[in-house]
Amino acid sequence: MSADETAVPAAQLPSDATLRPVPTIEGLAPGTVRDWLNWAESELASTSDSARADAEVLLAKLIGSERSQLRLRHEDAIEAATVLRYASTIERRKLGEPVAYITTRQGFWTLELAVDTAVLIPRPDTETLVEWALSILDASFPRRRESSSASAASPKVLDLGTGSGAIALAIASERADAQVIATDVSEAALDVARENARLNGVGNVEFICSFWLQGLSKSPLPTGERFGRPGLTQRQSGLCQTRVRDSGQVEHSVASESLTPSPSPGGRGETIAPFDLIVSNPPYIAEGDAHLAALRYEPRLALTSGAVGLDAIREIIREAPKHLKSGGRLLLEHGHDQAVAVRALLSEAGFTKVETRQDFGGNERCSGGRKP
Ligand SMILES: C[S@@+](CC[C@H](N)C(=O)[O-])C[C@H]1O[C@@H](n2cnc3c(N)ncnc32)[C@H](O)[C@@H]1O
Repeated sequence: MSADETAVPAAQLPSDATLRPVPTIEGLAPGTVRDWLNWAESELASTSDSARADAEVLLAKLIGSERSQLRLRHEDAIEAATVLRYASTIERRKLGEPVAYITTRQGFWTLELAVDTAVLIPRPDTETLVEWALSILDASFPRRRESSSASAASPKVLDLGTGSGAIALAIASERADAQVIATDVSEAALDVARENARLNGVGNVEFICSFWLQGLSKSPLPTGERFGRPGLTQRQSGLCQTRVRDSGQVEHSVASESLTPSPSPGGRGETIAPFDLIVSNPPYIAEGDAHLAALRYEPRLALTSGAVGLDAIREIIREAPKHLKSGGRLLLEHGHDQAVAVRALLSEAGFTKVETRQDFGGNERCSGGRKP
């Protein structure tokens, strides 16, 4: 049944409705779960490649059900107020808003993460980086049993550009013995990441606002440096505090002299650097890339990095050796066509054992190397 056949006059809407005419299914009002799923699927068919899945996820969220349980509820009636809200969410989806921003949730690894427009929606491909990171940690720091000696060394891990906290929290949730520092230049993103640590009960991550690795030493940060968004500048040395509002307006201030983690995740107040492992999924899309139009809901700060998309990767590769132990590893996610360039940058910076991992789609997605 098409949307046109199901529309009712706007006069029947509550006065505060901001929606287009509310759909009803003739003779079935208020309609069952099945009816509304079918309606939503047909509404989304022309704009979404995953119309049925989107329809199910959005309705499941609204009626407080697991998506997997919806089938059991196909004959349940949906009340009018819920229908109104469902129509509103379907409208947002039709306009291109990602499902995760509508539901404010995204699954990643074994975690359920809160997301909002301050953070990139974590992608399944990034789990490639997590898998690789965990395999490296497992090889160098075999997992301890509860009963084993408490004096064994803890892996020290740094996640640069943590966004929602996805990578840091996935690693920390698997390796409770790890000391993880997660940084981002956006305080708004760090708020989301901290909330995700709380929601998922992960206690071994400390979140710090920093411009890549610059805040992890006591050297002053550069002045007047642009980072990713017109008008966004970093003016002073010390710990940055940057808040990117939904409107795109950026608030930026300085909180302290040094980013030496204090107190450390262990609560002892000492720095945990240098690190055994540094991971990052930095912005890597070229300014002006045609794909950006489809990503318009996500923060530009999380997406683009210079004319060819490699500015952040270059900076991280240049600075990481100062913060890695000898034998420590740097792993970076990058674009599917950037592996050759990233491997070259790693080799030029003196990394050994430079290699690349493919994502689930067979694209070269992550490259890394070892500090000699
Ligand atoms: C591609 S997103 C990755 C988010 C998350 N790690 C993930 O994988 O889903 C890149 C992140 O880098 C952050 N970022 C951008 N420029 C930065 C900078 N100069 N210093 C630190 N973080 C930065 C952005 O705010 C964003 O959260």
